[in-house]
Amino acid sequence: MYILGISRHHDSAAALVKDGRIVAFIDEERLNRKKHYGGFPTQAIQFCLDSAGITLGDVDHVAYFWQRWPELVYGVKHFIRYFPDTLSAFKSENGNGHKSKGLLETIRSDGAQDHFDDYNAGGAILLHWLRTFTLPKVLQEALGYDGPTKYKLHFVDHHTAHACSTYYPSPFEEAAIFSVDGIGSDGTCTLLAVAQGNEIRDLRRVKYPNSLGAMYAVVTEYLGFYPSSDEGKVMGLAPFGTDRYVDDFRQMIHLGPDGTYEIDLSWFDFHKSAKHRVSQKFIDQFGPPRPKVRKHVEQHYADVAYGLQVVLEETGLHIAHWLHKETGSKNICMAGGVALNSVMNGRILLETPFTEFFAQPASADNGTALGAALYVSNGLLGLPRPTKEYIYLGPEYSEAEMESALHQAALSFTQPPDISSHVAQQIADGKIIGWFQGRMECGPRALGNRSIVADPRSPETKPRLNDKIKHREPFRPFAPSALIERSGEYFASSYPSTVMLLVYDVLEHRRDEVPAITHVDGTARVQTVSREENPTYWQLIKHFEEVTGVPMVVNTSFNDNNEPIVCSPHDAIRCFLNTDLDGLALGPFWVEKESMSHESK
Ligand SMILES: [Fe+2]
Repeated sequence: MYILGISRHHDSAAALVKDGRIVAFIDEERLNRKKHYGGFPTQAIQFCLDSAGITLGDVDHVAYFWQRWPELVYGVKHFIRYFPDTLSAFKSENGNGHKSKGLLETIRSDGAQDHFDDYNAGGAILLHWLRTFTLPKVLQEALGYDGPTKYKLHFVDHHTAHACSTYYPSPFEEAAIFSVDGIGSDGTCTLLAVAQGNEIRDLRRVKYPNSLGAMYAVVTEYLGFYPSSDEGKVMGLAPFGTDRYVDDFRQMIHLGPDGTYEIDLSWFDFHKSAKHRVSQKFIDQFGPPRPKVRKHVEQHYADVAYGLQVVLEETGLHIAHWLHKETGSKNICMAGGVALNSVMNGRILLETPFTEFFAQPASADNGTALGAALYVSNGLLGLPRPTKEYIYLGPEYSEAEMESALHQAALSFTQPPDISSHVAQQIADGKIIGWFQGRMECGPRALGNRSIVADPRSPETKPRLNDKIKHREPFRPFAPSALIERSGEYFASSYPSTVMLLVYDVLEHRRDEVPAITHVDGTARVQTVSREENPTYWQLIKHFEEVTGVPMVVNTSFNDNNEPIVCSPHDAIRCFLNTDLDGLALGPFWVEKESMSHESK
């Protein structure tokens, strides 16, 4: 029983589930090398089918991440409710000097984006609707497949897909589900649900324009970053701010007694313009938007980021408290783009009565490809749940393929007896290393198979990573991968954070020991690593611990800024050569820059 899941929005993706097991799951951007690609995920689908050795003709069900009618109906109602202001959705500008397509232009261009901020919610809604009619034809044409097909097509409610993507792979027999994003297929922005066995039941839906995702995205845009892409930067910037604007932001969200919330729309314009815009009242209060071209971030904008982040956390806590009271469960499963906010997640785990937390790595819309497939597999067909492997589901390459890529790049390399211990020693010596092993991880975080690893003890690691290798803003923090056995000795919680979606305080007496992973507010976005989940990566950290006594390494995604995480050996070699990485561990093979420069002399 083959079930193919497809999402096509931010970070288009495909997943294949066979008899309850996830065979493959990958974002299109990893294969076509276009970051946050939102077009049809042709290569991702082909990869999924190839992984199982099948064609489209063998697929029994195709599950799409969006429904056909509910959002269109909701969108029309919304258009009428805010008419005539909603006419501004047809204008091709977004008020900050950064041109974004109007509604009709978005449809005409089939949603092609000139930049990350080139987005029109009205156009996107109509395109989602139109694409439900053309999906079978587009699918066959994209794959170049003209044989017979037998699959049944399912259009899955977007937040149900988010909910399925997190609950079904979780280890829980029952759980509360908290799904939160910009907008879903019936206008839902927050879904609160409860699950038991294979059944998921809605408790409450908060609908657009009461959207925490849209609000965070709009302020991200105001702060000079790209919405639906750079929200993590805003989360990283927030701790540099002060509480100067917290009360202003508290006015923007009214918390209801029943776990709901309402956004004060006088501060925003997104619900009228369909673009990422704040209102004149917001600008009167906080000043003009920060220009995107500016590198330096003034204190004032960090204060705005702080206010936004605090009210998001408070709203998340408010909802989670209600959800716990309503369900009585100790387990919470989170999903949706806003659930990438690991600071909020960490507080939900530590400050509410929930004692168990689960999220799968692709929490945002890419995860709905998997969630839609699991909805059919587990929700409709009652097949077993995929609790074993939900992280390392992308391509892997043989030693012969890696060796061939190194030869093609004319790189000289060695094969140390144990690559893990070799790299551990290199890191301990202050080197920054590209680490490429096994099957690629899904989701936006590198989880030890496509990672850049470095020494957490050195104060030089962070500026060097930011300046020379990742080419990104100096305020952005780096995260640790820690041995699960010892994480409690360094962080305020020892609860497993397998997919790096929880932020904990670094214990005060440990902060000077690991400055490269301690953010300005004393926190860290931890990945805990166990031997069972990733033996090779665990070995690397274990060897580093044996050499230095410190049971963690710095882990950042293996890519340059604005490039998707490397997928193939060729991508890894290109990134290695284009940055100041000191060494590359490509499977069992080792390449270093120093020997290259000696050779060229
Ligand atoms: Fe979503």
